Amino acid sequence: MPLLENRIAVITGAGGGIGKAVAAQFAKEGAFVVCQDLNQEAATETLEIVKGEGSDGMVFACDVANRPAIDEMFEAVQKDHGVVTVLVNNAGVDKVAGDGSDETESAVKQMAIMSDESWLKMLDIHLNGAFYCTRAMLRALIDEKNEAKNQSASIVCISSIAGLSGWGPLHYATAKGGLLGFVRSIARMAGSVGIRANAVCPGVIDTGMTKAVPKHMIDGLQMITPMGRVGEADEVAQAVLYLASEQSSFVTGQAISPNGGLVI
Ligand SMILES: NC(=O)c1ccc[n+]([C@@H]2O[C@H](COP(=O)([O-])OP(=O)(O)OC[C@H]3O[C@@H](n4cnc5c(N)ncnc54)[C@H](O)[C@@H]3O)[C@@H](O)[C@H]2O)c1
Repeated sequence: MPLLENRIAVITGAGGGIGKAVAAQFAKEGAFVVCQDLNQEAATETLEIVKGEGSDGMVFACDVANRPAIDEMFEAVQKDHGVVTVLVNNAGVDKVAGDGSDETESAVKQMAIMSDESWLKMLDIHLNGAFYCTRAMLRALIDEKNEAKNQSASIVCISSIAGLSGWGPLHYATAKGGLLGFVRSIARMAGSVGIRANAVCPGVIDTGMTKAVPKHMIDGLQMITPMGRVGEADEVAQAVLYLASEQSSFVTGQAISPNGGLVI
């Protein structure tokens, strides 16, 4: 039986490299895939991939940090398709305007000149975005008696080696570290009603995000990676699929890091 048969899955940032790979895996395993992204065109491409795998889904274009829009998305999905039982909090950026990353200054100087707005924007996308989606999912899963309805559910947050070990800019590493606390707390509080929460912490993965990083930096990271290469989005998607499905039915509050050995 397909691993995600009859599951309704929301993937945020579904139009990007990792989001597309996760959507393809979920579609192969029978899920109805809600492709959420800021970029409607990219999310629509992902929906085509889902359909190409013989499954179905829908596009919802909005900012993941726009709470009313996220609530609207979950309400619309529930009304037209049913309750969401798989959520992948994946939408993210590694830099925002005003964070000092465009400067040729040292890393410590970049931290010293980071603006309030850029700091808050990074946390807003990664942490508030994950919270708004998770809360909306839980609302639909919980009935009036405050017990989860009779089905298991899985939340997967895409953190990073930045969250595990401090790689990356300050605001990004802080947001990604925050997601680790987020899944651990949900795991403790919701485990008794069959809701699991885990994180995937990718290393350097070949997507649009890393294509924007200067080549000499990627080469340097590749050199210190024991496996001697960057990862593919599908290698992250396999870990997400494992955590999203019942293959990982006794795994909660954990972090899996497909990173080629960069962080051990
Ligand atoms: N690529 C890597 O090396 C790497 C490593 C560790 C973690 N990650 C994380 O993986 C996730 C996916 O990144 P990717 O590598 O696929 O990058 P990507 O740039 O290819 O995809 C990111 C997607 O998120 C969307 N997005 C950005 N801000 C959004 C917002 N506010 N609301 C909704 N959608 C938004 C973008 O439109 C894009 O489609 C991110 O959270 C990223 O931090 C990536």
